[in-house]
Amino acid sequence: MVLDWSTEKIKAFRRALLDWYDQEKRDLPWRRDHDPYHVLLSETMLQQTQVATVIPYYEHFLQLFPTVAALAKAPEAQVMKAWEGLGYYSRARHLQLAAKQVVLDFGGLFPETAAELRTLAGIGPYTAGAIASIAFNQPEPAIDGNAFRVFARLLKIDADITRPQTRQVFDDLIRQLIDPQRPGDFNQAIMDLGSSYMRAKDPDPAHSPLAAFDQSYLSDTVLDYPVKSKKKPPVVIPYFALVVHSPQGYLLMQRPRTGMLGDLWMFPLVDRSALPAASLTAQLTEAAAQFAAETGVQLPFTDAGKPLVKHTFTHQQWQLTLIEAASPAFDLAVLPARWVAEADLATVALPTVQKKLFKALAVGGMK
Ligand code: ADE
Repeated sequence: MVLDWSTEKIKAFRRALLDWYDQEKRDLPWRRDHDPYHVLLSETMLQQTQVATVIPYYEHFLQLFPTVAALAKAPEAQVMKAWEGLGYYSRARHLQLAAKQVVLDFGGLFPETAAELRTLAGIGPYTAGAIASIAFNQPEPAIDGNAFRVFARLLKIDADITRPQTRQVFDDLIRQLIDPQRPGDFNQAIMDLGSSYMRAKDPDPAHSPLAAFDQSYLSDTVLDYPVKSKKKPPVVIPYFALVVHSPQGYLLMQRPRTGMLGDLWMFPLVDRSALPAASLTAQLTEAAAQFAAETGVQLPFTDAGKPLVKHTFTHQQWQLTLIEAASPAFDLAVLPARWVAEADLATVALPTVQKKLFKALAVGGMK
């Protein structure tokens, strides 16, 4: 789509945006230099997580793994541990894979074009655009949810942003607007607008530096943009969380690498919706039988009597009932599982939902 703006108007738009950014930009740790590793790390963390949450993780991560080479050769468990609590753990695994690719395939130096950056694990169009523009000054759009919202409002773009084809519409338009001298600052200024005057809720478009260019503001339709079809509510999955405690600690299983919460450690879970029985007592028996089939150990599980623990992910809500059994410390060699003493819980990577389970049990000072 061709933007029907004059060259003068486009230049005035860039100047208004960048002048504002020069005066008001947020002082964030990843803005102190343009190192591509720092950009990759911050943009990866920021993809599904808020700035205030990311800052301490970002600083800690760089203390542990100060360079792309250090990250490439770190033990994976240590990388996962550093990510603990941030969620979307596949980001951490991809990040380390990308670091290995940079070291092995690119001699330790990041490629500079968006197309080459996209060959790295976990790097999609947004992150490739962010690194290419911020670290290498390439005029590449970086279109995340914020940028979709900001440009949808500015230009009154009616395309549904939940449709994959829509990215190209935005990409074409932004390429006509992006400042060729300062593309990284241009993209980051859009991010700052998206978290201030042009935020999703309760925006303040009247005071935005781009008010004069904001077509939705000028037509009093700001909240009609972006156009987004409703997302489906998360699917509820009821689980038993099996609390097996032995003299050597709690039984934790490592989740399969490729699924949700891949590689993280949790109580064994049994999907209650897959159990034939209806009553709680009969389901307890079936859960115990499933556990016995996997471990060879029959345990008398009982309801731990704790409130249901709920945890919502993007597409699922887990509703976990804690059931428990005391056990001798049997051999776990055939399972991706281990006994973890309360004092050692800090040494394994636990997802937030597992911390909620420990909290419900008042174990390990979990908050
Ligand atoms: N959100 C995503 N990327 C960002 C960045 N570089 N600065 C601030 N917020 C962001």
